Amino acid sequence: MPKPMTSTTKKPMKAIILYDSQSVGGSTDRLIDSIGKKLAESGAYVEKARCKTNGDFSFVEEFDLVVLGAPIYYLLVASKLSGALGQSSLRTALKGKKVALFVICGSPEPMAQFLYLPQLKMNLDNPVILAEKVFAPDQTGDQQVIAEFVNSITEAYGKTH
Ligand SMILES: Cc1cc2nc3c(=O)[nH]c(=O)nc-3n(C[C@H](O)[C@H](O)[C@H](O)COP(=O)(O)O)c2cc1C
Repeated sequence: MPKPMTSTTKKPMKAIILYDSQSVGGSTDRLIDSIGKKLAESGAYVEKARCKTNGDFSFVEEFDLVVLGAPIYYLLVASKLSGALGQSSLRTALKGKKVALFVICGSPEPMAQFLYLPQLKMNLDNPVILAEKVFAPDQTGDQQVIAEFVNSITEAYGKTH
């Protein structure tokens, strides 16, 4: 009797990068393109979407991994991502999801750990945080640093399967 050829093959991870930025073609766009490329190189299927505060995020359901991130402007996570987390269906869609978090900011890392990453975490409901990272603006083009972030995501994801 024929056997399905995919029975022993792991399904590729479906990942989505949800982000916001005030700029187009700035450090955030550069970073997420590199994160997306590296995730894709690891075998994942990857999409990206800029957040809208009142968007319908039910599509997030179908993804295995959600990478969430944005730059900091005036001490706050870019407003459409933080707004979406606070007000829309995004919070519900992310319940219990595997997530990776990043912020981009000019402040020193300890300050970002203390002030900025919690702005993302406090809006997540029972998440599985696989990795989190503070990027300085000049690291958003640093392929080595980005590869380390993506590797930490894929390794942690592998352990959950
Ligand atoms: C208007 C403005 C306000 C900023 N405020 C902060 C801040 O309060 N804290 C911080 O660490 N970085 C701050 N930054 C640095 C940004 O987070 C950083 O430049 C980031 O790379 C910008 O992302 P973008 O190129 O996608 O716009 C600010 C940058 C701008 C342009």
